[in-house]
Amino acid sequence: EPPKPLVVRTQPTDAEADDGKKKVIIFFGTQTGTAEGFAKSLADEAKARYSDASFKIVDLDEYAADDEEYEEKMKKETLALFFLATYGDGEPTDNAARFYKWFTEGKERESWLEKLQFAVFGLGNRQYEHFNKVAKVVDEMLADQGGKRIIPLGLGDDDRCIEDDFTAWRDLLWPELDKLLQDENSVSGPITPYTAAIPEYRVVFIKSEDAAHLDKSWTLANGHAVHDIQHPCRANVVVRRELHTPASDRSCTHLEFDIAGTGLAYETGDHVGVFTENCIEVVEEAERLLGYSPDTYFSIHADKEDGTPLGRATLSPPFPSPCTLRTALTRYADLLNSPKKSALLALAAHASEPCEAERLKFLASPAGKDEYSQWVVSSQRSLLEVMAEFPSAKPPLGVFFAAIAPLLQPRYYSISSSPSMAPTRIHVTCALVHEKTPAGRIHRGVCSTWMKNSVPLKESQECSWAPIFVRQSNFKLPTNPSLPIIMIGPGTGLAPFRGFLQERLALKEAGEKLGRSILFFGCRNRKMDFIYEEEFNNFVETGALSELTIAFSREGPTKEYVQHKLTEKASDVWNIISEGGYVYVCGDAKGMARDVHRVLHTIVQEQGSLDSSKAESFVKSLQMEGRYLRDVW
Ligand code: 2AM
Repeated sequence: EPPKPLVVRTQPTDAEADDGKKKVIIFFGTQTGTAEGFAKSLADEAKARYSDASFKIVDLDEYAADDEEYEEKMKKETLALFFLATYGDGEPTDNAARFYKWFTEGKERESWLEKLQFAVFGLGNRQYEHFNKVAKVVDEMLADQGGKRIIPLGLGDDDRCIEDDFTAWRDLLWPELDKLLQDENSVSGPITPYTAAIPEYRVVFIKSEDAAHLDKSWTLANGHAVHDIQHPCRANVVVRRELHTPASDRSCTHLEFDIAGTGLAYETGDHVGVFTENCIEVVEEAERLLGYSPDTYFSIHADKEDGTPLGRATLSPPFPSPCTLRTALTRYADLLNSPKKSALLALAAHASEPCEAERLKFLASPAGKDEYSQWVVSSQRSLLEVMAEFPSAKPPLGVFFAAIAPLLQPRYYSISSSPSMAPTRIHVTCALVHEKTPAGRIHRGVCSTWMKNSVPLKESQECSWAPIFVRQSNFKLPTNPSLPIIMIGPGTGLAPFRGFLQERLALKEAGEKLGRSILFFGCRNRKMDFIYEEEFNNFVETGALSELTIAFSREGPTKEYVQHKLTEKASDVWNIISEGGYVYVCGDAKGMARDVHRVLHTIVQEQGSLDSSKAESFVKSLQMEGRYLRDVW
């Protein structure tokens, strides 16, 4: 049996091709499914409101096979809505990357979108420097190229309640769509209020004496031509070790996946996506709250028995089945994030206690906005914690997986090895997420906990494994190894530089002349969290690294961070940049990368004797040339 894709994406259908209806195309660029969810819910409501129009939801990646097709199809569109998320360092989502590159970097075009009316909703997080950059750029360029914007760009902020931002934007959209899509002949009158139907999968329970043995959901065969998010590759954990010393009260795991013979390949600087598992305590709590036995064996379907679509036409089965409930909860359900308002409504619909149902509905309503934001979001209450507060809410599994628990998303890590040193291994360096939430729960990061507790092949034949895939990045060493480089990576930001230095060592051993390299690393205390200390000293000894500069933040009386060390070496930094060198930053985006950016600006300004705005355009041009690269999260 061919392995089934793990994430089944929306397929554009041409069913509604030429029936004389006004056509609306709804694009989404999604990473974790939020943009796609908004696109679907908008389409559902729009279909109910406008019977004379047709709505098509399209994954930006699947819209066109190449640049020409993008252009060809796009110029024919008349009404398009965009849901675009921004990630990391102001980047588009993977499924929007090709479109974004084509649209923003392609040839100059003027007024070629004159037929197009459009509206854009962005998904971002205000804590990041490039808040909603992708949506802002696309919105502006659509207008510049002749498109007519029907409502202002919506700036969704995930730091607060992005569902509210979406609702507010949608409320502006309806009056405009009314003008464009309502049939002039139909009697005008108030549109009947719309209540979104709760999506639901069809679940078929299968009787089984021994369900655990029948569980074939993860007979994931390797050997795909390409491994990507839809076709991950099963990889064993072969090495696992703790990188912090016992003196540290935190934990950081070094993990190695075996990719020998899988066809999976990577380059230095790439990312690895890891599909992870919920830990057993979390899964058992979910089973208890749902009121099902873990051995419940079932299949899950997005269509009716006769094959016709169920409810939302775009719903596809969320995961391969049949499988046990234990497997479904372990591998596919996101149980520890806060529930969305739509999830609360679905829970309300299945709460047998009227007061619980009322309270859930209130939390999801405009009147309960502040309370939702306080009690759910700010307190970081997980879906399971919320369900525990409403014990009478027992949703059927089909509703639970369609409307309440989102799909567990893969986690991305900067690969900390180089194929020139470890061609059959992917190394990961992962700090344990372990923190107390405002509501008092100890939050354990799903993937970092799994990695910390994983069993390597070294210790047992029954070793841990995970479906993984590689995501390419542009975080690469200069093609000319004799150019000097500066690397800045405190904490686990060190990860890709371990790969860089492995590659440089291999280049050196092959007789290449290496340019100068300086690495700025930061940790709390040499005796606790100086990860890979020996290896990096070794890189210095062998000449792969010219200088290692470390900021210890908790050794002396004052905090020392990488940017302070950078300032101390300002003239060195300036020289390297002036010689055509490269600057790399990896690690935390909200604090570190932002502070380092400011310091870099100051160095350029002072050392280059430039005024502030000249310094800014200088740093911008470094970025444009690909000589200032950031891998931040
Ligand atoms: P701290 O935990 O003592 O504040 C790796 O996490 C290192 O990065 C730690 O030494 C941490 O210091 C430091 N760090 C925290 N915030 C930072 C920031 N804004 N810029 C640079 N380094 C930072």
